[in-house]
Amino acid sequence: AHAGDAEAGKAKSATCAACHGADGNSMAPTFPKIAGQGERYLIKQIKDIRDGARSVPAMAPFVAGLSDTDVADLAAYFAAQIPTAGGAKEELVELGEAIYRGGIAEKGVPACLACHGPDGKGVAAAGFPRLAGQHDAYTAAQLTAFSMNQRTNDGDSRMMRDIAYRLHATEIEAVASYIQGL
Ligand code: HEM
Ligand code: HEM
Repeated sequence: AHAGDAEAGKAKSATCAACHGADGNSMAPTFPKIAGQGERYLIKQIKDIRDGARSVPAMAPFVAGLSDTDVADLAAYFAAQIPTAGGAKEELVELGEAIYRGGIAEKGVPACLACHGPDGKGVAAAGFPRLAGQHDAYTAAQLTAFSMNQRTNDGDSRMMRDIAYRLHATEIEAVASYIQGL
């Protein structure tokens, strides 16, 4: 496999900047921050969006023509950028923290930190995404999409769909806010 070249990726990233920010720290919460995201996860998502396994109509035309080398270079560039921090809503921290750190045993929801890490930085080598500092509205939208079977690229294990469909809207809002503050 081609090892991504961050310098080459930077040159190819101009088209991404309008939505994700020049350094991958998007301003608008509908666009995910991708700065500092794990390289393996970035490669998988860009390819999934390019190839249709994850439906993102707004972005698909911009990645349709990318080669696997382009994808690897872009992933190397964005993985090397420094992610900005966000904050949590005070009133949601207690519930959000409880779910993130302990899951919800009576509903079979596992602790998020088992895969996304105690600090929300993910496990890059395993392809478990970084969540820390992500826009709460984006995180909530992804959890809702998983829960409704609209985002289905979590593989045959369906691990995120299985988790998300057990969460109420209030629980999604709380854990998404807590994650923004991690
Ligand atoms: C999602 C990369 C261009 C809009 C994503 C994700 C990645 C990515 C890696 C998934 C993030 C995650 O799962 O955390 C890129 C790259 C681009 C590019 C490398 C340039 C080659 C664009 C452009 C737009 C855009 C130009 C806007 C027109 C979006 C949106 C999502 C997304 C809306 C999230 C969709 C959802 O809610 O599921 N992008 N992107 N992207 N991108 Fe891009
Ligand atoms: C993806 C949240 C538990 C493994 C995601 C995403 C979110 C999320 C928001 C999408 C990230 C993005 O689009 O940037 C959560 C929350 C959890 C939880 C709130 C606890 C309630 C877990 C657990 C595992 C896991 C326990 C492992 C068993 C994954 C994997 C992906 C993912 C592998 C990437 C799926 C893909 O390739 O598209 N998670 N997660 N998560 N999560 Fe979780």
